[in-house]
Amino acid sequence: MEERIYQIAIDGPSGAGKSTIAKKVAAILNIDYIDTGAMYRAIGYQISREGVDMEDASALSSMLSETDVDLHGGKVLLNGEDVSDRIRTPEMSRMASACSALPAVRQKLVELQRAMAKSKSVIMDGRDIGTNVLTDARYKIYLTASVEERARRRYKELLEKGETVTLDEVEADMRQRDYNDSHRQLNPLRKAEDAVEIDSTHMNLEQVVERILEIVGR
Ligand code: DC
Repeated sequence: MEERIYQIAIDGPSGAGKSTIAKKVAAILNIDYIDTGAMYRAIGYQISREGVDMEDASALSSMLSETDVDLHGGKVLLNGEDVSDRIRTPEMSRMASACSALPAVRQKLVELQRAMAKSKSVIMDGRDIGTNVLTDARYKIYLTASVEERARRRYKELLEKGETVTLDEVEADMRQRDYNDSHRQLNPLRKAEDAVEIDSTHMNLEQVVERILEIVGR
């Protein structure tokens, strides 16, 4: 008999649409959505705000021991403070990518993520969910799209938020993050062997959501 509780892991590069899609699927299936990228962003924000030297292991460890990251009702809470908007800037994207390579940061967040998925059905997105955080997830999806298409989507999003950036800058940033996220030593981005790959370059949001619902048999 299938267990009542199940997990859906979604990995893929930035801008592939993971969080928008995971949010929709979570609402349809009435399960929790866990945005692990937001957790790395929150830590990146704290490092930057407190001026912590990422090379200083003891300063980093003491900051981490005093830092709590939680996701609640779609909000990202850093020691109880709502930082949801402040972590969505190009600078925080870079900070998140940089701090996600630090073993102490990954260790703390992976532990929190596993605890969040322990006793309830969840859809969790990130870079290492199917390969590391939830290796036993019942469903694993690797969502990708061409770098040009991902840059166009992110550029549109940033313009709508009033950021002043060029498409070339966004694409260069994205290529750099792709490289960092897939070349770091610890749990780099890669497709889990048992993940189903979806290339969304020529698909719209609804089509990707449909495809995922099909994969999970709903
Ligand atoms: O999904 P995002 O763009 O919000 O993620 C921000 C950064 O966090 C991304 O560049 C890589 C890192 N990350 C990670 O290393 N592991 C995860 N599970 C999620 C995000």
